[in-house]
Amino acid sequence: MSIIEPKKISESRVEIAQVMMPEHSNAAGNVHGGYILKLVDQAGAIVAARHTHLNCVTASLDRMDFISPVFIGNLTFAKASINYTGRTSMEVGVRIESECLKTGTHTHVGSAYLTFVALDANDKPVAIPQILPETEEEKRRYEEAKKRRENRIEQRRAHRHIQKPCIVRPEKLK
Ligand SMILES: CC(C)(COP(=O)(O)OP(=O)(O)OC[C@H]1O[C@@H](n2cnc3c(N)ncnc32)[C@H](O)[C@@H]1OP(=O)(O)O)[C@@H](O)C(=O)NCCC(=O)NCCS
Repeated sequence: MSIIEPKKISESRVEIAQVMMPEHSNAAGNVHGGYILKLVDQAGAIVAARHTHLNCVTASLDRMDFISPVFIGNLTFAKASINYTGRTSMEVGVRIESECLKTGTHTHVGSAYLTFVALDANDKPVAIPQILPETEEEKRRYEEAKKRRENRIEQRRAHRHIQKPCIVRPEKLK
């Protein structure tokens, strides 16, 4: 049994709101998809850090379908919460929404599931607190995330690179 106290999902949930500025634009004048992905990763990373109070890295992002574009001047929301916890990893769901400040129209831009892994001082995966799904929605998300995790582990096994990546921090090299 884990000696780390489980935590509520609501304790780490986060919502970022940001007005899209010209610096976020692509050549066509809309918001750059890569900037939206950055927001997705940022929101997910905040949830992982709030849940664990540890250094967490993005291990994977399942996929991101952009349902509608985001325009410069839109207020963009990244809503993120933890869906599932493994031993050292956790799935965080992020939903991106956009609001036109001139009309108030609110749009779902896209959603993504990310897996974050908590690392210790030696950059090795370390055990994290489990989550306590309380509401019906949290319980449903937990069960769905559990299935996605199984698929992910299966896919990772099939596609795993033979070589281990070099993750030695430059400052630790002699
Ligand atoms: C993610 C990372 C720590 C995994 O290291 P590893 O030695 O392969 O770890 P393990 O095989 O022991 O797996 C540890 C956990 O991560 C999960 N995991 C590892 N790779 C994963 C992936 N690609 N997708 C989802 N989960 C993954 C495992 O399922 C396991 O979860 P569990 O403990 O909850 O059961 C390592 O690959 C890494 O440091 N990657 C770089 C991360 C990074 O820098 N991200 C930012 C990009 S610039």
